[in-house]
Amino acid sequence: MMKLSATFAVLAGFIPYALGQAQEWGQCGGIGWTGATTCVSGTTCVVVNSYYSQCQPGTATSTTSTTTTASTTPSSTAGLNTLAKAAGKLYFGSATDNPELSDSAYVTILSNSKEFGQITPGNSMKWDATEPTRGTFTFTNGDVIANLAKTNGQLLRGHNCVWHNQLPSWVSSGSFTAADLTTVIQNHCGTVVGHYKGQVYSWDVVNEPFNDDGTWRSDVFYNTLNTTYVSIALQAARAADPNAKLYINDYNIENSGAKATAMLNLVKQLIADGVPIDGVGFQCHFIVGSVPTSFQTVLEQFTALGLEVAITELDIRMTLPETDALLAQQAKDYQSVVQACMNVEKCVGITIWDYTDKYSWVPSTFSGQGAACPWDSNLTIKPAYNGIVAALS
Ligand code: XIL
Repeated sequence: MMKLSATFAVLAGFIPYALGQAQEWGQCGGIGWTGATTCVSGTTCVVVNSYYSQCQPGTATSTTSTTTTASTTPSSTAGLNTLAKAAGKLYFGSATDNPELSDSAYVTILSNSKEFGQITPGNSMKWDATEPTRGTFTFTNGDVIANLAKTNGQLLRGHNCVWHNQLPSWVSSGSFTAADLTTVIQNHCGTVVGHYKGQVYSWDVVNEPFNDDGTWRSDVFYNTLNTTYVSIALQAARAADPNAKLYINDYNIENSGAKATAMLNLVKQLIADGVPIDGVGFQCHFIVGSVPTSFQTVLEQFTALGLEVAITELDIRMTLPETDALLAQQAKDYQSVVQACMNVEKCVGITIWDYTDKYSWVPSTFSGQGAACPWDSNLTIKPAYNGIVAALS
């Protein structure tokens, strides 16, 4: 008896504490959970899924569970690409990247051509990946993505030939004469586009040529060749793969303003000069609650020139933690952006910049922000998915 009551006393002593804070590896949240939502010191409450949050070791202070969200039921099971094609678009697609392809659950969804009829390599066709030293080309990783598209019966977007970013230092820090850099661009675009000849629907030949105020971005290309680098790259790409649609791609051109006007003036000049240009890509890296209002009008300004347009890198980020309200607004935002493309006949397709928060570039690029994709980090659809469905249907 003595021993039992001592045990009870010890247990009883712990009961209030146990109700107040969950222990390490204990549950601390989730749909229907009514127990403790804070964790003991040295652990943090991590959302494992909508139904289960767990105290995992990792921080020095106790924390409160982040808001849990209800699971989303798809409003259509047809698939985003099926819906987009039924509505007259060429594709609904996603970016992807080589390291993610070891995740078989991820690949299964990516490869489902009912959801995705097009893929874009997030990194492996960029200059630093394809020509790390002058004249030496590596296509191993790019080929993996190209072959995946082929296996899945998906269109492929080449990304990209000429960009100020992710350049090997022999390019970004090289000192070139204009003639020398012309040869460098011709060789790079010609070789890369030529390698994928016949496999690519469209190429982002030139990426991000402008600053946000509509002036030309200062980089090795502009500083050496002025604006002529654009036509040098486009002509090299056309010669290397006459059937690929050649695009210039940029961000912050989705609303009327100096940058959209600069892009419009550039493509007008290229057309007037007889330079090959087929389309303009609108990256569409947006923020929840502030998607552009004049997007359709801007798209129509470009298609009026006879060009096609595409949404090439759509994601809509939020300041974390995600809440039901933010996810609901995000669904509306996805719907309105996709609707703008739907309303413009020559907006040929929509690509999201990876389909899942698990592999989004956003958290590592924009501090404190994330949850930008239509699938969450458990590869489960979010309300944003149904926002897209509503626009495509
Ligand atoms: C991003 C990739 O997703 C990241 O993995 C990489 O670290 C940086 O580049 N605009 C573009 C894309 O045109 O190439 C960028 O991709 C995202 C912004």
